[in-house]
Order: sequence, then structure tokens, then C-alpha cells
Amino acid sequence: MYHRLRVADVIEETPDAHSLVLSVPPELATEFAYRPGQYLTLRVPHSQGIVARCYSLSSSPYTETDLKITVKRVPGGPASNWICDDIRAGASLELLPPAGSFTPDSLDDDLLLLAGGSGITPAMSIIKSVLAAGRGRVALLYANRDQNSVIFAAELAALSEQHPDRLSVTHWLDSERGTPDPATLAALISAYAGQEAYVCGPVPFVVVAHDTLQRAGVPTDRIRVERFEVEERSADDRDATLEVELDGQTHRLPWPAGARLLDVLIAAGLNAPFSCRQGHCGACACRLLDGQVDLVHNEILEEEDFAESYILACQAVARSDEVSVTYY
Ligand code: FES
Repeated sequence: MYHRLRVADVIEETPDAHSLVLSVPPELATEFAYRPGQYLTLRVPHSQGIVARCYSLSSSPYTETDLKITVKRVPGGPASNWICDDIRAGASLELLPPAGSFTPDSLDDDLLLLAGGSGITPAMSIIKSVLAAGRGRVALLYANRDQNSVIFAAELAALSEQHPDRLSVTHWLDSERGTPDPATLAALISAYAGQEAYVCGPVPFVVVAHDTLQRAGVPTDRIRVERFEVEERSADDRDATLEVELDGQTHRLPWPAGARLLDVLIAAGLNAPFSCRQGHCGACACRLLDGQVDLVHNEILEEEDFAESYILACQAVARSDEVSVTYY
């Protein structure tokens, strides 16, 4: 269920990235308790109504009382630009409580974090938590376009100085070294290949990082990945109308171009099931009765599932004007 939280402060981290500090009233403290690496779901206005968007928490539950999400502008992206342009201290936002499984099992483990751009947000939460409340050591490889786009540069430098034996930060700037290539990155992280690895960033970075870790010999079952949704619209995106059977009722809803089916349902206040929101658990599966969708990412459904019309709501975007799905 959505709750309204007040924006206590807005921090301009870089020209393109704003952090929103959110106050949690005492009566919601339990519901909004979180683990490092989790995200919040936010209702944001859209040309066709309201959509839901997920943003990772960059705060740590061990070092900060308020919650903080950090949002980087995506060129042409309606949600991130609305947040960066229109949200000021004193505004109130509608949010779902924290969720997500991109979170370390133990703060005493040694971790290797690979972050690209705004993928630093959950990494920052994990780093602060491990340093404050655990015994683990953390190695961070952090890739950005150029120096101006490095979010949390000063905070990371201060943490490295305070914990020289427990935090090592390696920056990669495309402006100096070109786009990251797996062979060079693998050499940079080889000393940490035995550690549990966490990768977060936009899809192209995640692909390179995954290849890097495999070259460095990190087993796949020790790699955790969080992809960031890309807000840009593809040429195939179209506004559609959705008919959905859920919880004994049929609903007709506008489905904005490029939005994920699950986000449309959550934004409408419907109780649709989900867990990972990354296309790898299957908790959001439903069946397509009519129309066409594309799945942005899929690690769980197989040919026989598609033959029975199963789709993943967290990954489905509309590809026809009318789409009908059922959860029965
Ligand atoms: Fe896990 Fe959609 S919520 S695959």
C-alpha cells in the first residue's frame, strides 16, 4: 500500500543527479525499515496518468535516520526529469515500502561492488552499512562518463580515508580511458575475485561487468546483479489500453508507452504479485489473453511457458493498442 512521505531535503549531488531525503513518521517506521541495497517504488505523473518507478536507496539504515533515494536524469525520461526539476523540500511523495533482494547476506563478508553511473546508489548504501555495522572489507569499481558525473565522489573519498584497510575505490572514467572493456577491468579487480560480487547499473554496463567477473574467475553463483530500468522510449513503444483480470475483478487501465505492466498495476493500486522485479524469479507471471507485449528481460520463462501464454509483468511493455491479461 502506498504511503505519503515528506521530502525533508533535496541535495544536488551532480548537475544531473538529485538525492531526495524522505522523513518517515514514527507510525510508519516499521513498514519503512529496510536493508542496504533495497529500493522504493514511487508514483510519478505521466502523460497518460500515473506510473510507478523504482529507485534504490542510497542511505544506510545504520548511519541515517531518514531515507534517501538518488535519481539521475535520463535524457527524455519523464520520471527522472520530473523528480530533478519539480521536487523540492516540503513536497510529499507517494511511495511503497522498501523491497528488493540486492542486499548482502552478511555485513561481515568481504564484497566486490561494480557500479556504473547511478548504479552507485545501492552500492553506497551497502558500503556505508558494512563499514558502520559489519567487519567486511569492500572493493568498489565505479565507472562514469566523466569526472562531473561521479555521484558521491567526496563521500567516497572521505570513507576511503576513514577506512583505508576496509574500503578501496577504483574509478573508471570513460573520458580518460574510453568505455570499459572486460579484459582491462578484469585485471583491475583480480585481487578481489574471491569475494561475493554485486553489479549494479544500466544494462550495457551490467553486460560488461558480468563478462569482467567471469574472466576474473568469479563463479556465477557468487554474482548478484541489479539492472536499472532505462527510461528512454523505444520506437516500438506505444500507449495502450490494458484489460486485466485480478483478484476477482476485471479492470481497464491506460498503459503508457514504455511502462512495464507491473508498474501500471501497482500505480493503479492493484495488488499484483512480484518479488525481484528483474525478470529472474517468476513471481509476477501472468497470462496474455489478447494483444502483444515484449519482455525487456527474461531469465525464467522457457518455450513451454510461452506456449501457454505466460509473460512476466515486471518486464512486459505493450506492443499493441489493446492488451488483455489474466492472473488466473
Ligand atoms: Fe521476479 Fe518479475 S518479479 S520475474
